[in-house]
Amino acid sequence: MIVLGLESSCDETGLALYDTERGLLSHALHSQIAMHQEYGGVVPELASRDHIRRALPLLEEVLTKAQLSRNEIDAIAYTQGPGLAGALLVGASVACGLGLALDKPVLGIHHLEGHLLSPLLASKPPAFPFIALLVSGGHTQLMRVDGVGQYQLLGETLDDAAGEAFDKSAKLLGLSYPGGPAISRLAEFGDPLAYKFPRPMLHSKDLNFSFSGLKTAVLTVVKSHPANICEQDKANIARGFVDALVDVLVAKCVTAMKEHSMKRLVIAGGVGANSQLRAALNAAATKRRFQVFYPELEFCTDNGAMIAFAGAMRLKKNPALAKRDYSFNVRPRWPLHELEAA
Ligand code: KG4
Ligand code: ZN
Repeated sequence: MIVLGLESSCDETGLALYDTERGLLSHALHSQIAMHQEYGGVVPELASRDHIRRALPLLEEVLTKAQLSRNEIDAIAYTQGPGLAGALLVGASVACGLGLALDKPVLGIHHLEGHLLSPLLASKPPAFPFIALLVSGGHTQLMRVDGVGQYQLLGETLDDAAGEAFDKSAKLLGLSYPGGPAISRLAEFGDPLAYKFPRPMLHSKDLNFSFSGLKTAVLTVVKSHPANICEQDKANIARGFVDALVDVLVAKCVTAMKEHSMKRLVIAGGVGANSQLRAALNAAATKRRFQVFYPELEFCTDNGAMIAFAGAMRLKKNPALAKRDYSFNVRPRWPLHELEAA
């Protein structure tokens, strides 16, 4: 079965073709980062319009790469939510329009399920069950994953998401959007002893997170400096921030692994691309004797492959989900626990 995946929940248009027999056949992505950069964040209306422009050329690109014709697609999976309403509507209408024209079934996918399952696209995928840390621009969650559609929320952020904390703190340091990769690069040059930022909820007895206080701590330090903050000091602040955030993420992962006696930890979402987080998790995994799995770097951030894959997994498990119903509704707010088991 060949599934076309279509991701358009935020500022990336991603398309991909996944074959349940042969694996990922092709994928293509257009990132809108350059377009939104001058505004310091995503402008929803511009995002929607750009998704419209990119979707069909990207479809042609994935078909050409995979040497397939449109008629060889067996089903179409698109991101139904959560995300920006207008951006989601573009993906949903393109997917349903294609489904209607080609007489193929269409399936709405939860964006976070796409992220959660993305490490399974790697050459050495983890087996179920595992603990997953989902760290993206909009979400920070620890989940127990027992199979496709079997997700148990163990803890989540009470305020800002990890990626949001990265982006906001980077902005305070004058770095451009999206700040995650930029603040991470800068932190490499920082002195780890220069600033000791708070580790929010490190000792709370649960698996929840809170990052807005950390961002405020960065703000307080930045404000306490004279107008022109030197590059070395920026790097020191970046280092203090990254170390604090990584400490909390790693500590909570270790607790979840212990509490559930798990041997496999999976990292998903854009912040999963972060090199400091990966180094600290790898060290913890060696010390505590568990394995840690990451998606390929290109599948950490938003992409069509994870949506095609999640669609294929759901359809494989439950072929009755393949419906030729082309009326669609997007779900900009869609808690993962409301997702039906596959
Ligand atoms: O998963 P994603 O592409 O989109 C959402 O679903 O939110 O995640 C984007 C987030 C942004 O906040 C971005 O700054 C962050 O992931 N990010 C990083 C890195 N690469 C992306 N944060 C820290 N270090 C990175 N290398
Ligand atoms: Zn995402």
